[in-house]
Amino acid sequence: MCSPLSKSLQPIIDEMHRWGLYYEKQQSFTWYPQLRNYTFDLACQLFVGLENGSQTQLGHLFEIWSQGLFSLPIDLPWTRFGRALNSRKKMLQELERIICERLESQEIGEDALGILIQAEDEEGNKLSLDELKDQVLLLLFAGHETLTSSLTSFCLLMAQHPEILEKVREEQKQFSDSEPMTLETLSKMTYLEQVLQEVLRLVPPVGGGFREVIEDCEIEGYFIPKGWNVLYQINQTHREETVYPESDHYQPERFNPERIDNPSKTYNYVPFGGGMRECLGKEFARLEMKLFAVNLVRHYHWELSPDQDTELLTVPVPRPRDGLKVRFVKN
Ligand code: HEM
Repeated sequence: MCSPLSKSLQPIIDEMHRWGLYYEKQQSFTWYPQLRNYTFDLACQLFVGLENGSQTQLGHLFEIWSQGLFSLPIDLPWTRFGRALNSRKKMLQELERIICERLESQEIGEDALGILIQAEDEEGNKLSLDELKDQVLLLLFAGHETLTSSLTSFCLLMAQHPEILEKVREEQKQFSDSEPMTLETLSKMTYLEQVLQEVLRLVPPVGGGFREVIEDCEIEGYFIPKGWNVLYQINQTHREETVYPESDHYQPERFNPERIDNPSKTYNYVPFGGGMRECLGKEFARLEMKLFAVNLVRHYHWELSPDQDTELLTVPVPRPRDGLKVRFVKN
C-alpha cells in the first residue's frame, strides 16, 4: 500500500487551504502578488520554520530586494539597486537572528535549515554562520520567484484555454477527493503532467544560465575554446520549431508519453537547466505545482477580468503586466 504524502508535505496542503479561504472571500483580485505571498509563506515555513513569512519584516525586505535584482547597478540610497543592496544586508541580519535562535534551541528541526545546520563534509566540517545565511537566502529566492511565475502562468493559460482546463477537470474525476493524496495518485494524473510540462516550456521562469567551457569542444561546426563562458538560453531552446512545431501555441499533447517525439527527456526541454548543476529543487517544484493545480481545478473556477494587459513582463521572472486580475468562485 502506498502511504499518504509525507508529514513534511502537509504544510503545502494546509497552506493551500488557507489561501483558498482567502480567495473565496475576495472573489475579485490580482493573483500574482497573492501567489507570491503564498509561495513565500510556504518557502519560509519549509525552509526556516517561519509562519506567515510574507507578512514579516523578512517578507518586506525580500520584496524590495527582488525588485532591484536586475536594475542598473548604481548604488545610491534612492535607486532600486541601492535599496536592494540595503535590503539584502538587513535580510542577512534577520536570517542570522533566526539561525542563532535555532542553534540555541534544543530542537534543530527537520526543515531545510535544520538539515543544513547538521550537514557535515567528509572531514566533519560544518557550514559556517555566513555560509548558512547564504544558503538559506539562495533557497528562499530560488524556491519562490520561479514557482510564483509558473503557478501564475498555469492560472493564466488555463483561463485562456478552457477546453484544456475541462480535460484536466475530467481527468480529476477519476480520483476521490476524500482519499489522502499519495505520490502514486499524483503520478497517475498524466494529462495534468503534460499540461504543467507545457506551461514550463512556453513560459520558462528562468531565461538561461552560464557555463564555463572546461575543455576545447566543437558544437555543430562551431569551435568553442576552453575557458570561455557560454550562455544557454532556455526560452530559445523551447521555441525551436523543428522540435516544437507552432512553438508559440500552448499544446500539452506535445508531452504525451506515448509520442515517440516527446521531448521531455532530452536537452530540447530544459526548464530546470541540465547536467550537474540542474535545479536542486526540481522535484519539489514539480510536486508543488501539481498539488496546487489539483486543489485549484477540483474546487474553484476563475476567469480573467476584462480590460487588463496579460502581456508578459520578463524581469525578474515572467508574469502578466497587470498581475493577472481574476474573478474567483468556489465550485
Ligand atoms: C518551477 C520552478 C523552478 C524552476 C523553473 C527552476 C529553474 C532552475 C534553473 C533553470 C536553474 C539553473 C540550473 C542550471 O544552470 O543548469 C536552477 C537552479 C537552482 N534551483 Fe531551481 N527552479 C525552480 C524551483 C526551485 C525550487 C522550489 C528550489 C528550492 C527548493 C530551487 C532551488 C534551486 C537551486 C538551489 C539552484 C542552484 C543549483 C546549483 O547551482 O547547483 N529551484 N533552478
